[in-house]
Amino acid sequence: MNVSVVILAAGLGKRMKSRTPKVLHEALGKPMLHHVIDAVKSLNPAKIIVVVGNGADEVENRFRAEPVSFVLQKKLLGTGDAVVTARKHLKNGSVLILNGDGPLITTKTLKGLLTKHRRDKNTMSFLSFKDDGLSGYGRVFRDERGKVSRIVEDKHVKDAERAKFQELNGGVYLIESDALQNMDAIEKNSKSGEYYLTDIVGILSQSTGKLNAYECPPEDILGVNSRQDLFHVATIMRKRILSNWMNKGVTFIDPNTTIVHTSVSIGRDTVIYPNTHLEGATSIGGNCTIYPGSRINNSSIGDGVVIKDNSLIEDSKVRDRAIIGPMAHLRPHSVIGRDARIGNFVEIKKSTIGDGTKASHLSYLGDARIGADVNIGAGTITCNYDGTHKFQTNIQPGVFIGSDSQLVAPVTVGKGAYVAAGSTVTRNVPANALAISRSGQKNLKDWVKKRKLLKKG
Ligand code: UD1
Ligand code: CA
Repeated sequence: MNVSVVILAAGLGKRMKSRTPKVLHEALGKPMLHHVIDAVKSLNPAKIIVVVGNGADEVENRFRAEPVSFVLQKKLLGTGDAVVTARKHLKNGSVLILNGDGPLITTKTLKGLLTKHRRDKNTMSFLSFKDDGLSGYGRVFRDERGKVSRIVEDKHVKDAERAKFQELNGGVYLIESDALQNMDAIEKNSKSGEYYLTDIVGILSQSTGKLNAYECPPEDILGVNSRQDLFHVATIMRKRILSNWMNKGVTFIDPNTTIVHTSVSIGRDTVIYPNTHLEGATSIGGNCTIYPGSRINNSSIGDGVVIKDNSLIEDSKVRDRAIIGPMAHLRPHSVIGRDARIGNFVEIKKSTIGDGTKASHLSYLGDARIGADVNIGAGTITCNYDGTHKFQTNIQPGVFIGSDSQLVAPVTVGKGAYVAAGSTVTRNVPANALAISRSGQKNLKDWVKKRKLLKKG
């Protein structure tokens, strides 16, 4: 598409009261600016320019992997100055200008604006919305015939005008590159000392430029200036995502306490209980049940998996029909096999657990390769760390590890072998052998009775 994009992201964000640049504040695990970049990326623009200033290095570093280029606005002299800074880097054609602090903008709404802009052969078009309860937005002034005449910033609007003009500026503009030369006519606002991008509207309406504002749902263009706004916007984003998944056949028992990031996918007939957080690049299969209180980050969960209450799963893979939790912790690079069972208070790190294998209670399994149909008894620990290095534990298929055993790595337990409960295994166990390492038991006959007699005497 013959569109270049300018995203304004240099502002200080004073009202956020933060050391972090405003556009890096996150809504659903992703910086506001990232949401805006994602929305424009789908338009396949010729170029995306981000105007940075406050915290420029931090912002640039965060988006190195994105197809955007950065332009530095040295002094933050307002949105008008920001666009002038970007102007010489633009290609001919239509220029889409957006505020970096409006993360709810959607590709669909942007496409709608482009279509109307072209249909009406405008020089400039922008998005507006109506909402009585909001302050801080520029107001769109129209003449008696309804033609847009200018935008006046909230703080400069008089009370009588406030009642008359209730259309607000959404901060999303399309303007033909030829018209950008008119930016030079914008004057410094005498009260704030800033150059307002919005003044271009008044300038163009005086000349031959054809311009118009198009209303869109307020939900698409809410801007974030404060932490309250951020919360409000994140709430809307969360509801949008949940209703999208509900439309695709996912049940949420309590959408108010469920958080699903934009990058997550969920299969049909999965049921998600309250207080579930699905984060990052996570995919959940169909027919899963996720009980209350779990957080799953950057992980892939197969079909028919059950995740019981209060489990944490990070950078891991859980295959079909496995049962995890309650209170299990899968740390990065864990793979849990089909029909496997990881029970309460079990911590897995960088380990592969075979199909049908069970570790049902109180275990630490780290740097382990565990085959299929293994039984890991309660309290089993892989001693994988000697204080300097990490070592592997290898447990082959069909092994039975008795409760309260320690496997001191590096060590291999061969196929079908048994480890007796309470053993400390320091050497490899051959296939089908029994490893037992504990002191023999002595029973002292009538010891209790004798002790009582001793006490009396
Ligand atoms: C702006 C609009 C207002 C509109 C609202 C919508 C102007 C003058 N006003 O107001 O009409 O209703 O957005 O959300 O444009 N920025 C820079 N350089 C600067 C100043 C700002 O890049 O020198 C960036 C900010 O980082 C921000 C965006 O421009 O992403 C908007 O700036 P902000 O100060 O938030 O403008 P608003 O007062 O919200
Ligand atoms: Ca703003």
